[in-house]
Amino acid sequence: MSHFQPVALHHASRLINHGPTVLVTSAHAGRRNVMAAAWSMPVEFTPPRVAVVIDKKTFTRELAAASGCFGLCIPGLALADFTFAVGSTSGRDEDKFARHGVTPLAGPVLGVPVLETGCAAWMECRLIPERHTEDAYDTCFAEVVSAAADARIFVNGRWAYREDNADVQPIHHLGAGLFVRAGGTVQARGV
Ligand SMILES: Cc1cc2nc3c(=O)[nH]c(=O)nc-3n(C[C@H](O)[C@H](O)[C@H](O)COP(=O)(O)O)c2cc1C
Repeated sequence: MSHFQPVALHHASRLINHGPTVLVTSAHAGRRNVMAAAWSMPVEFTPPRVAVVIDKKTFTRELAAASGCFGLCIPGLALADFTFAVGSTSGRDEDKFARHGVTPLAGPVLGVPVLETGCAAWMECRLIPERHTEDAYDTCFAEVVSAAADARIFVNGRWAYREDNADVQPIHHLGAGLFVRAGGTVQARGV
């Protein structure tokens, strides 16, 4: 007998969306902002390009469109509350960094706000002008122009998950504020 049951289509994305949750940071004309995004992925190798779903209604989208860039920060377990909070309120009404006592640095290439404390890594991204994004879709494409990671967890281009770096291990959103961190890594045998 099969254990499979139908999944409501509005829940289908949850079957594949628990890659690392990211923080999308942005700034323009004296305003700055941060929001959570569960939907992001790499789409090209060289130059490195990514896709991130940034709802048209968000303040982040407004700032990213105006400045032509945004940051992607990878929060660790210690920032789960912060991540949920900045994904639940809008920066139109308040400076979410100040509200939560979090101080971003300026990225070296684009100057976008990036977070290091509590994060495993960050990237600066230049938005790629795309007619379909402007007209219809929430998906934004961008080129990664600089990146840095905490060497305690990302070394020589590889993740190194250990008991002693649990605080900066990326978190994955399962829905409604429930996060999980990946545990129990398995090294597959080579062919
Ligand atoms: C864990 C989590 C993941 C989210 N993922 C996304 C996402 O992938 N894309 C999106 O547009 N909004 C996502 N949201 C919602 C935005 O973070 C939310 O609309 C936020 O309030 C927008 O803030 P802003 O108006 O300050 O830009 C997510 C929220 C949470 C809590």
